[in-house]
Amino acid sequence: MRHQPFIKKLSYSGYGILFAMLVYMPSSSAGENAISTLLKAYLAEGISSFNARKGQALWQQVHLNMKTGQKRSCTDCHGKDIKQAGKYQRSGIKIEPMAPSVNPKRLQDVKKIEKWLKHNCEWTFGRDCTLQEKANLLTFLQGQ
Ligand code: HEC
Repeated sequence: MRHQPFIKKLSYSGYGILFAMLVYMPSSSAGENAISTLLKAYLAEGISSFNARKGQALWQQVHLNMKTGQKRSCTDCHGKDIKQAGKYQRSGIKIEPMAPSVNPKRLQDVKKIEKWLKHNCEWTFGRDCTLQEKANLLTFLQGQ
């Protein structure tokens, strides 16, 4: 079949492309959520794909904070199970679950997301996240 290779290619490239297509689809502002708004902005700023698996790896890995040399991970505060509540690392204050499937209030506000990504990337990595890292992280988080 003549169309076969194209279809194959599409399925190989996975969620990133699928998501890019969703994001590119013209949509009314009413149906637009905070994540697709952000991903659209990141695309406009130069990235070309999103990868939930890379986002998941970034979320779970223990990183060496490049400023302090301490071992840190997103799960230090958000917990090992993304569907359960986490605990603020220093104060012990409860953090509601990050997974939108159990906590629909998650990832609804562009400003809140950007603010916390900035803060948490700095705390975890000792630097800002790149656009690609943010896109991968948000793609992963959104699917949880
Ligand atoms: C030191 C503790 C801590 C660490 C480590 C941490 N976070 Fe958070 N994060 C918070 C707190 C506190 C909030 C805000 C309170 C809330 O939303 O429950 C938050 C909120 C967020 C939000 C906004 C959620 C929303 O509903 O809009 C995102 C996105 C996020 N964090 C991603 C990350 C990522 C990615 C990492 C790893 C790079 C990370 N966090 C590591 C404490 C942390």
